[in-house]
Amino acid sequence: MAFDIEMIKKVYASMAERVDAAREIVGRPLTLTEKILYSHLWDGKATKVYHRGADYVDFAPDRVACQDATAQMALLQFMHAGKKRVAVPTTVHCDHLILAKNGAKSDLAVANTQSKEVFDFLSSVSNKYGIGFWKPGSGIIHQIVLENYAFPGGMMIGTDSHTVNAGGLGMLAIGVGGADAVDVMSGMSWELKFPKLIGVKLTGKLSGWTAPKDVILKVADILTVKGGTGAVVEYFGEGAIAMSCTGKGTICNMGAEIGATTSTFGYDDAMRRYLVATGRQEVVAAADAVASYLTADPEVYANPEQYFDQLIEINLSDLEPHINGPFTPDRGTPVSKMKEEAAANGWPIKVEWGLIGSCTNSSYEDMARAASIVEQAVTHGITPKAEFGINPGSEQIRYTIERDGIIATFEKMGTKVFTNACGPCIGQWDRAGADKGEKNTIVHSFNRNFSKRADGNPNTHAFVTSPEMVAALAISGRLDFNPLTDSLLNDNGEEVKLNAPFGDELPKRGFDVEEDGFQAPAADGSSVQILVSPTSDRLQLLAPFEAWDGKNITGAKLLIKAFGKCTTDHISMAGPWLRFRGHLDNISNNMLIGAVNAFNQKTNEIKNQLTGVYEPVPTVQRAYKAAGIPSIVVGDHNYGEGSSREHAAMEPRFLGVKAVLVKSFARIHETNLKKQGMLALTFANEFDYDKIQEDDTINFLDLTEFAAGKPLTIELVHSNEARETILVNHTYNESQIGWFVAGSALNLIAAAGQA
Ligand code: F3S
Repeated sequence: MAFDIEMIKKVYASMAERVDAAREIVGRPLTLTEKILYSHLWDGKATKVYHRGADYVDFAPDRVACQDATAQMALLQFMHAGKKRVAVPTTVHCDHLILAKNGAKSDLAVANTQSKEVFDFLSSVSNKYGIGFWKPGSGIIHQIVLENYAFPGGMMIGTDSHTVNAGGLGMLAIGVGGADAVDVMSGMSWELKFPKLIGVKLTGKLSGWTAPKDVILKVADILTVKGGTGAVVEYFGEGAIAMSCTGKGTICNMGAEIGATTSTFGYDDAMRRYLVATGRQEVVAAADAVASYLTADPEVYANPEQYFDQLIEINLSDLEPHINGPFTPDRGTPVSKMKEEAAANGWPIKVEWGLIGSCTNSSYEDMARAASIVEQAVTHGITPKAEFGINPGSEQIRYTIERDGIIATFEKMGTKVFTNACGPCIGQWDRAGADKGEKNTIVHSFNRNFSKRADGNPNTHAFVTSPEMVAALAISGRLDFNPLTDSLLNDNGEEVKLNAPFGDELPKRGFDVEEDGFQAPAADGSSVQILVSPTSDRLQLLAPFEAWDGKNITGAKLLIKAFGKCTTDHISMAGPWLRFRGHLDNISNNMLIGAVNAFNQKTNEIKNQLTGVYEPVPTVQRAYKAAGIPSIVVGDHNYGEGSSREHAAMEPRFLGVKAVLVKSFARIHETNLKKQGMLALTFANEFDYDKIQEDDTINFLDLTEFAAGKPLTIELVHSNEARETILVNHTYNESQIGWFVAGSALNLIAAAGQA
């Protein structure tokens, strides 16, 4: 593996000039977030002030990272961009498709068999197009990015919501959909609404049982799962500086759980130590030369209330360990209150499993501190009451903690060491008995604890806490055990009180690894063949979507009038459909199956206008497609909210839907529809939604005059032959109209590449 020091030096070379220009234009001291944003403007030096929460801005990210579940469609699309290599350093990480069951060795072997064609595909595409490929078992995307690629002051995007983890090394790292990643990999700009800023001032110092995890569990409790929406969270203060770099990573990681665009910290000694320990002395030298640009201007942190839209202050000296959950990461309970909360809410007290690791808490410090608790239990003759499992974040971490005896300590407690992969964190956990649906409690140090997320059992109460608290709760077997005040009984019936955890921030002997699992791309990939079996049910090469024929769309059938909430999960479900993320035809069989039909209030049961029979949405749409009949989807408010998955736009496009007409869109989905060459339209008068009838045929009257800022007129032809015309709005600019005309944004990129 080689980090790209030349790219980093290039970013730093223009940083002073760009930040100074921005400061002058903005006319006041700048936060760190603003410095990173203004130094990554697509157009170079700032020429105007961007308004937070209002202006859409084009940026030039430095890197892209993709995980295996999302990379499939991203790379299938990239193959159509007509590029020889990716335009910015990019990596692909195989971490989501490995089931945790018996332990690392056998689980990895099973995954390598079951998902072989997907891994081979990702490997060969990476090899061909200059993408660094991290094999199954090498580790989890965000841990590997922190260990190898993140750098202070950088900007990256990644096709996973926890890309934000890299904020621990002072980056602005943001989770996006695959289509956005393809744009950046193809050398195009990336658009983001200029975020609002939340400042979190950390005073005091962590000590005893309190860990960095408790900071974000507390912040989540304060802000809730929506509180960070549209904002970047910037942490600062003496408590931030005193914290390890990986601890900062944990805090940034779970910024996704408050809906924040991302989170970050200013460059400091903890980051220097981590960069040196992970072999990046050169990055330290480069960053030190521009250090004042890698943190906020001093006036900002001196008077933060003047510079942030919202300010939170947390005194780490007073902060208690937190246990958040169940079912949502923002339900925070300080450990001292858990006895009464658990009793009052009827949460199962017995802890069945403790799980640590994942991309959230896999640092050497995390593992060492958790192991210090296990060691005490073993020394005092306490038999652990719950099962215990670890998903190390990377092979480098796993190898190093094995070398230093930490894994041996865990194994004294019968711990299962799963693959260096997501495993139970993404529901890839074959937990014995989970199918019985019994009410039970597990504790973990991951980030999300939604219903069914870990083991598929809706009655599993999952609680999120620090790794050391997971160890203590698993050993005690009780959710309401408070290690700060309570004792445990050892096997001789003697009372034992656990001491506070301890552990080195970084390994004294340095990190080590034998086989890191990295595959460097070919220097010239032009002869690399990409093999996709035409009979595969998991992968399918994409054909370009057809260009617009320049005519009005006429005779379109209403496919479905969706009622109420229609998120990307309703449009393209996850769960078992994950395995088809690389096969557009197969995954299209889930199109809109979760949407509620406004005419019968049922899901996945709509009228086929050709036969009058009620059938599943994909079946009806495939019938229209086979008959060469266009169709239209109608929806309610905030259509397409949720994730940024582009499948929700690609599936209707693939199956022949021409337009989506709604009361309002979630912005990312609207953009995704535009990128795939669809018409994303809104009712000029939202009450016209009520005029749409089940048997309607729809004609566009002036699509031939499609232009920015000009509404379109459509005609509804009802079953009784009555006709009504309505106005519909759109937000296409001239270049986005170009996407529609070409058939997709990608077609346009490809055409430009061939010109
Ligand atoms: Fe994987 Fe869970 Fe992180 S799914 S990327 S370990 S949030």
